[in-house]
Amino acid sequence: MDLLQAIFVLFAFCLLSITQALPLQKGFEGISLRRERRALRPFPVCNQNAIPSGHTSVADVSFWYKNGWFLAVYKDGNINGTSDARSRDIELQLQSVGSSLVRIFSKQTCLYVAMQSSGKVYTTKEPTRETVFQQTHEANGFQTFASEHHSHVNDKTRKYLFLSMRKNGHMKNGKKTTRHNKTTLISVIESREIS
Ligand SMILES: *[C@@H]1O[C@H](CO)[C@@H](O)[C@H](O)[C@H]1NC(C)=O
Ligand SMILES: *[C@@H]1O[C@H](CO)[C@@H](O)[C@H](O)[C@H]1NC(C)=O
Repeated sequence: MDLLQAIFVLFAFCLLSITQALPLQKGFEGISLRRERRALRPFPVCNQNAIPSGHTSVADVSFWYKNGWFLAVYKDGNINGTSDARSRDIELQLQSVGSSLVRIFSKQTCLYVAMQSSGKVYTTKEPTRETVFQQTHEANGFQTFASEHHSHVNDKTRKYLFLSMRKNGHMKNGKKTTRHNKTTLISVIESREIS
């Protein structure tokens, strides 16, 4: 009698724990799966024709301006500053296209950063001449990026149009920029994420 009772209790206990454990386990699996999927959410496949084959190397980076803003490229094509260091909008790719010449590409949006002759900064799907920037290492580990196509250096004039960020988080007109200014100085942060 006692033994039978004990067996029954044990059996009931087992049944209870199994039925309770199952959905619980499923729940945990669901959460970890969702997390993994979020972490591994792939970038869209950009139009391969638009990606130049000429680049010699690529690096996943983020641009942090000395005045505190991260450079961000949004899905709506907008480009401006954000203070959110965890935003995907700040994930950029530096494509080397020659000696000190780079393109700044957003894999999330398939857009390049570009500058017009007027100094206006914009984004474009096409790797035009306006998307090439001259990368220069400045003092204290900062770097500057000047429009290759629209900066002019000759005997008389020396004018660089830098990719600069205004204090309010909007892009600065390239024609109103100077090299040694915290609106122009960028710390290029290499991404540790393997992609
Ligand atoms: C930057 O652009 C995004 C997307 O258009 C917008 O949501 C955000 O408010 C803008 N930020 C600033 C500082 O203008
Ligand atoms: C940076 O530029 C702003 C105007 O764009 C100017 O007021 C400021 O003095 C400059 N800073 C330096 C260090 O040149």
